[in-house]
Amino acid sequence: MNKLLEIHGLNHYFGGLQAVKNLSFDVIQGSIKALIGPNGAGKTTLFNLIAGDIQPHSGSIALDGKPIKGLKPFRIAELGLSRTFQTTRLFPQMTVLENVMIGRHTHSKAGFLSCILNLPWTWKEEHGTFLIFPVNSFRTHFSLKNFL
Ligand SMILES: Nc1ncnc2c1ncn2[C@@H]1O[C@H](COP(=O)(O)OP(=O)(O)OP(=O)(O)O)[C@@H](O)[C@H]1O
Ligand SMILES: [Mg+2]
Repeated sequence: MNKLLEIHGLNHYFGGLQAVKNLSFDVIQGSIKALIGPNGAGKTTLFNLIAGDIQPHSGSIALDGKPIKGLKPFRIAELGLSRTFQTTRLFPQMTVLENVMIGRHTHSKAGFLSCILNLPWTWKEEHGTFLIFPVNSFRTHFSLKNFL
């Protein structure tokens, strides 16, 4: 029973309002956990705390046994923790597939210069990302031929 995410004694305040109060729970590897609650219960605040967008006033957050509290959001993403947002914001000028590929960029080894120069290993890596998505089946099932 590997605890992938461990939250312990988490507290967060917005001024005098306590949005997250002494919250503790674990997420076991391979399990699905849901978070429910009325408007204003603190769900989004909790996701923002876990993703590193805001810092808790107290408590601890560990991912796969390592403390992640205080890390920048992009460092937490590099460790494998991803999130979606309540209001989705896409890049409208890009295709559906390109928007999906953006979500993988933290796992790419390509740097600024190699991307600008379009070095062979850079586009090979990008092509590899492209191939892991079942593009043809997407096209057929969702009539996305103009968008992929
Ligand atoms: N940036 C902020 N500044 C001040 N108060 C905030 C801020 N963000 C959230 N709050 C307050 O913290 C509380 C928890 O808000 P939060 O958005 O986390 O709730 P929620 O459970 O996601 O609600 P919803 O179901 O409406 O999405 C609410 O009372 C909200 O008004
Ligand atoms: Mg919310």
